[in-house]
Amino acid sequence: MVDMKKGRGIVAAAEPLAAGVGTDILRQGGNAIDAAVAIGFALAVTYPAAGNLGGGGFLVGSIGREKKQRSEVSLDFREVAPGAATSDMYTQAAAAGNRSASLLGHLAAGVPGSVSGMLTALERWGTMTRRQVIEPARLLAQGGFLLPARTHRMLVASKKSMLRFEATADTFFPDGAVIGEGKLFRQPDLARTLEIIIERGIAGFYDGEVADHIVIEMKRGGGLISAKDLLDYRPVERKPIRFPISNGSAVSMPPPSSGGICLAQMSRMLERFKIGSTDAESPQLYHLLAEVMRLSFADRNQYLGDPDHVACPLEMLQDKKRLDRLAATIDRSSASSSADLLKDSPPVKESEQTTHYSVIDCHGNGVAVTTTLNGSFGSKVLVPAAGFLLNNEMDDFTAHPGEPNLFGLIQGSANAVAPGKRPLSSMSPTVLLDEEGNVDAVLGTPGGPTIITNVFQVLLGLTRLGLSPENSITAPKIHHQCLPDRIFLEAAVPTSTEQSLLALGHVCARRSAIGDFQLIARTPHRGLVGVADPRGGGVVSNT
Ligand code: GLY
Repeated sequence: MVDMKKGRGIVAAAEPLAAGVGTDILRQGGNAIDAAVAIGFALAVTYPAAGNLGGGGFLVGSIGREKKQRSEVSLDFREVAPGAATSDMYTQAAAAGNRSASLLGHLAAGVPGSVSGMLTALERWGTMTRRQVIEPARLLAQGGFLLPARTHRMLVASKKSMLRFEATADTFFPDGAVIGEGKLFRQPDLARTLEIIIERGIAGFYDGEVADHIVIEMKRGGGLISAKDLLDYRPVERKPIRFPISNGSAVSMPPPSSGGICLAQMSRMLERFKIGSTDAESPQLYHLLAEVMRLSFADRNQYLGDPDHVACPLEMLQDKKRLDRLAATIDRSSASSSADLLKDSPPVKESEQTTHYSVIDCHGNGVAVTTTLNGSFGSKVLVPAAGFLLNNEMDDFTAHPGEPNLFGLIQGSANAVAPGKRPLSSMSPTVLLDEEGNVDAVLGTPGGPTIITNVFQVLLGLTRLGLSPENSITAPKIHHQCLPDRIFLEAAVPTSTEQSLLALGHVCARRSAIGDFQLIARTPHRGLVGVADPRGGGVVSNT
């Protein structure tokens, strides 16, 4: 935790070297976007499980040189399905004996969006040059850094699948053994790719040598991404979802993220219930949370997809009367059931390697970025000679209709695979504004669908429950996603609370820690306070 009363800004990120890159940029006079872009590229080097060039993400910000000019923006740089993708490509692969084609290997990769997204954000809202914001990442790749224990552990956990791909094995398992904790880890191929991006910008990744390496690897491994797919990739600036909360408002990501809509829905439904600081961590509050989560995820899975391909009924989903009607179905003394909505599914798997970072600069600009390869180290395919991993984001589509995906989500036809389409996401970078529109907090976390419910619980902690930034994060978290019909409880939720929830008729399941939150929040007496979730290995860094 770090307080900032004066100074040039605060960064909260999941990896210390990348966080330090961000504060260096702020110290040099860069704004929150410059810092965010620099952190994004640095994470691609220092946190390869989730930071990326070969994945995608979302940016939400409140940005402007002057307070009066500040506006709320969102940038979608989500991956898209290759032009040759088909709605039944994974059921066909399964029929041919490959059940994991949407998760592992070349077919799992969507067309990456991160480089285009980061550089578009820099051009649109940043102040620095590509060289200034990417050079720190290039130097980290070229000179190397000491491999952190966390990445070492993650590599050990993914060793078997990563060794299936030669370039991946050569990079992370030289001589067949995982790079040791604390050993120097250099990535010269990645450094060269970063140099090309510095020199040529977006074209340096999507057209030319780097693109050629991707396409050659796709052909070699039976993947679908073509030269045309790369040339056609565009990030999209979208109108963020904005909803009132307490005396202010929250701004979050619209579809193809489900985050903003679900947060807006849950917030509205919970307005019906009087809650305050004494309710924090109570079984009664967890019950209400589970019920609004259930209702919102039922809508998520049925109605949402890529808005450029399917009609997402955003007005209906945010309609206050409808949400009030739904909230009125909640019984404070007993759990409802998801059974009538959809069929049940196996438990949620726990691979949730995405990463989030938050930045506030000295001008009051706030930027939230969540970026991902989807699973830990994505598809596990590293592009030979280019040095970066490709995502396995195709699994976020309804890859196997009627069956749960990596996160146990059963999704609908709105999220079917189609060429050029973005898979539905749960990533929820969010900015909280006060009643005058000043940035009060920047929030986000990894965690698959638990991203949405975790961001909601932290928002609630900061606003309606009056918790400190630290307590908003450390408070034990729960998660409900409609199906499977159960409340997932972190270990820190007391057994007595679990008993109360069982007595209300809930099915409860214990699970590992939820999320790796990176929060910056304004407090009445301490100014800006940054908090990196103690569940993860992140840090807060200020100038
Ligand atoms: N890949 C996880 C998500 O976008 O929700």
